[in-house]
Amino acid sequence: MAIISDDEGLEKRVKRNPIVKSETIEYDNLFENSIRPKDFDSYIGQTALKETLKIILEAAKRRGKPLDHMLFYGPPGLGKTTIAGVIATQMGVEIKITSAPSLERPRDIIGILMSLKGGEILFIDEIHRLNKVAEEILYPAMEDFTLDMTTGKSQTAKTLRVPLPKFTLIGATTKAGELSSPLRDRFGMIHRLEFYSVDELAQVVMRTAGILDISITEEGAKAIAKRSRGTPRIANRLVKRVSDFAIVKYDGKIDETVANESLDILKIDEFGLDNTDRALLSLIIDKYDGGPVGIETIAAALSEDVRTIEDVCEPYLLQAGLLQRTPRGRKVSPEGFRHLGRIIPSMQTSLF
Ligand code: ADE
Repeated sequence: MAIISDDEGLEKRVKRNPIVKSETIEYDNLFENSIRPKDFDSYIGQTALKETLKIILEAAKRRGKPLDHMLFYGPPGLGKTTIAGVIATQMGVEIKITSAPSLERPRDIIGILMSLKGGEILFIDEIHRLNKVAEEILYPAMEDFTLDMTTGKSQTAKTLRVPLPKFTLIGATTKAGELSSPLRDRFGMIHRLEFYSVDELAQVVMRTAGILDISITEEGAKAIAKRSRGTPRIANRLVKRVSDFAIVKYDGKIDETVANESLDILKIDEFGLDNTDRALLSLIIDKYDGGPVGIETIAAALSEDVRTIEDVCEPYLLQAGLLQRTPRGRKVSPEGFRHLGRIIPSMQTSLF
């Protein structure tokens, strides 16, 4: 499977070195990529999605046709890139991975489309950030497998239709709502990835520990899973961090006590919240009486950008029921007050 570029680090690396753009980056060098499951058997969780995909893939194989274009959305770290890689393996085709912010100029997207071979998968991460020109190049490419190119100027301008091989576009986004409807309508399948259960994350932790040769008990894996915010990417990072503690401070083996003590030192609490999450909740409670308060105000006060708060912190705080989104801004829920050990406002007034 030829992979061009990874998902998360791409934008940063492009900024540092624009040559990286959409060139090949060694897939297996990166930690996350080295432990990514490559087929359905090793991919844990997202059961409903896997079952649907198995049918879709089998049908496409029997028809001898490429797969429909697919859009995966949901919070970061739930395996959008991973599932695209699994689909490629299962179909026995190549996947080219890129990210919308690196498709700035028309020639970037045209270059990638022209490099595709029949049946191949093009994966575009953060597809909601595609610019208008790139989007318009994609429409006929997705619908009719053609590239409409204009040559010459005004009166002498000619439109050239270049046929493309039949490929499958897999788009991924944390913000499905920001996709334009013409683009959204061109996907044959749209699927939301769900947060993982503690049991599923414990399996992810055991699998990763096995690959990395880390010694761990089932209780240790469960303790890490509980603090991983429903997210396998976080679970995998925590296994490594806890393993560092286990080697330096304990006998190398991760059990429940080692996991809990290490995560306490890392200031990751029983809900998996870190300092930023707790700072966000405390800010709303202390400065805005629990809210509602606008996201821009929260971001400015925390010196974070709005996108990081919206994409990284909020989804889990909302899912865990610690934060609420209202038309007038964000509010800390009674559960959020309780989690931080604060008095819930209605209880406070009832005291008087
Ligand atoms: N690592 C990251 N996501 C995973 C998954 N869904 N299954 C197994 N290992 C993973």
